[in-house]
Amino acid sequence: LVATTPNELDGEEDDSAAASELTTAAKRPGLRLYQGAWLAQVWVPGVVAIQQGSFVPRRGDVVLASQPKCGTTWLKALAFATMARVAYPPAHAGHPLLRLNPHDCVPFMEMLFADGALGNRKMDALPSPRLMSTHMPHALLPASIRDNPDCKIIYICREPKDMLISLWHFTRRFVPDRAFSDMFEDACQGASFAGPIWDHVLGYWNASKDSPERVLFLRYEEILRDPVENVKKLARFVQQPFSPAEEAAGVIKDIVRLCSFDRMKGLEVNKKAGSNYVFPNSSYFRRGEAGDWTNHMTPEMAQRLDAIMEEKLQGLSPMP
Ligand code: A3P
Repeated sequence: LVATTPNELDGEEDDSAAASELTTAAKRPGLRLYQGAWLAQVWVPGVVAIQQGSFVPRRGDVVLASQPKCGTTWLKALAFATMARVAYPPAHAGHPLLRLNPHDCVPFMEMLFADGALGNRKMDALPSPRLMSTHMPHALLPASIRDNPDCKIIYICREPKDMLISLWHFTRRFVPDRAFSDMFEDACQGASFAGPIWDHVLGYWNASKDSPERVLFLRYEEILRDPVENVKKLARFVQQPFSPAEEAAGVIKDIVRLCSFDRMKGLEVNKKAGSNYVFPNSSYFRRGEAGDWTNHMTPEMAQRLDAIMEEKLQGLSPMP
């Protein structure tokens, strides 16, 4: 599917709603409001193709879901290293993650399916169980993922203030004059990549509560605090738990070490331009810490975003 104008994508909307949406979207270059979510314009054709059935599910599929800058790269590395550990022992000098960026090991669905039928041919070529990633909000997922008992979803969530700071640093590499205050204002109004932030988190949080066997909800900060426990959780979830022999042999620690920020950032492959995407591999590795927002946000900004998140997530117990 090739979308030439935004109206072609949202045929059912009435004219005035579409016009107002376009006026708002025009102020946010690169973003497109689609089915209530702010998507990167370049993702939209892929999302439409996925929703219209280009993606053909296979038993055992695992989808990694996130908002950009929440630790997608890290989750891709951890999930790939965990699920492929028999074929590729994590301590082996020839491990794929030592010569490929994690984004080259786990395809990003929105961009893959922007190629239409070619996307599914590439997906078909992957061995089972297949690993793939998406930034789509839960509500936008096709039933073939959302309601499919044979498909598992692993979500990674991050402190929104750190996510926005990370996004700003990332964006500045390509749009140097993007002011943080503008990005922050847009995000507070819901217009961040894959946003509103709260809807994205809530969608996957609710799904993980409704179907814990199908949706695993992870947090970036928790993985930083206890990577071993979180990798074990991930392995159990995809039904590849570590055996006592593997634990004793240090396989989990090998995975954590292989995927650690310093190790990944230091690899030659991650210092150069990427092969699959327009962004250089190095742009996915900055500080890899929690709490960097304190170096960039005013207390007023922090309080404002905290208050919005609290209001949007209120009533949930426990809170995401
Ligand atoms: P910072 O900009 O705060 O450093 P994404 O992969 O979703 O684009 O998220 C990028 C963020 O994850 C960046 O955060 C990046 O540094 C961090 N990151 C990337 N690889 C990581 C790893 N192996 N361990 C911890 N954080 C990592």
